[in-house]
Amino acid sequence: MNDVSKRLALIEKTLAELCPSKGAVSEKLNEAMNYSLLAGGKRLRPLAIMASADAVGGEGERYVKLACAIELIHTYSLIHDDLPAMDNDDYRRGRLTNHKVYGEAMAILAGDGLLTKTFELLAAEESVAPKKLLRVIFELSRAAGPEGMVGGQALDLIAEKKRISLSELQKLHGAKTGALFIAAVRIGAILADASEEELSSLTRYAKAFGLAFQITDDILDVTGDDKKIGKPVGSDEKNGKSTYVSLLGLSEARQKAAQAVKEAVEALSPFGEQAAFLRELAQKMLTREK
Ligand code: IPE
Ligand code: IPE
Ligand code: MG
Ligand code: MG
Ligand code: MG
Repeated sequence: MNDVSKRLALIEKTLAELCPSKGAVSEKLNEAMNYSLLAGGKRLRPLAIMASADAVGGEGERYVKLACAIELIHTYSLIHDDLPAMDNDDYRRGRLTNHKVYGEAMAILAGDGLLTKTFELLAAEESVAPKKLLRVIFELSRAAGPEGMVGGQALDLIAEKKRISLSELQKLHGAKTGALFIAAVRIGAILADASEEELSSLTRYAKAFGLAFQITDDILDVTGDDKKIGKPVGSDEKNGKSTYVSLLGLSEARQKAAQAVKEAVEALSPFGEQAAFLRELAQKMLTREK
């Protein structure tokens, strides 16, 4: 097993332990939470937390539990994103969406449960000094909330069936997707006691990485294979979404993604071999099929 597969196995194991359904107040609710949480997924955000800790000389694996907390938030965002009132999609991570199996009301609660469980996990973490933990909680809650992901989802809704400018789209993407990646990378670095300089280089990396990630998500929504991406192709067009592809066309969107990857890799220039995985993660964006 290489390092990444080892880490992925560790992440899966940790996630499986986080929301047990046995003995829960509502076993059905926990079952619905786990249905989406344990459905696979690339686990990019936990991997990014651990890789960022490595980049500044830390030991990524130590933070696996905190790294998994962000995956709970991300999974909640996917469950809600797929709801009929939002993107109305039937497949996610290769299986029926949460609301298709558990009904809309339970899917909303499964999302709520995952979101709040995140902060319970963080607050209960005893291996990190309280002041540092508070900083982690601040980074994550700001990135997931109205200043970040939720705000971006709102912009995404408002931009449906409209032509928005490129800078508006960049703002939308930055909040909807970029913010959580920035938080992941910053949290890993903060946990491993990064200097302010390191933190600012890594933030630059994450900003560019998040952009490349969302552009390629928009591209895969047009050119992808739904069996590989595990969610329906054509969802954005169906909903009249403003995306890099709808705004610029495929070829320019590809160029923008390549440019963003280049910027991400450049931002890592102060780091050596320890940032190898962050580099690889960025470069993979240009060839990813899922
Ligand atoms: C999909 O995220 C949602 C976006 C932010 C575009 P991922 O592509 O990381 O989804 P999973 O976690 O691998 O399923
Ligand atoms: C949503 O973006 C990103 C989230 C914050 C969940 P998309 O709507 O493009 O995500 P997918 O393509 O459904 O995964
Ligand atoms: Mg959406
Ligand atoms: Mg969607
Ligand atoms: Mg998409």
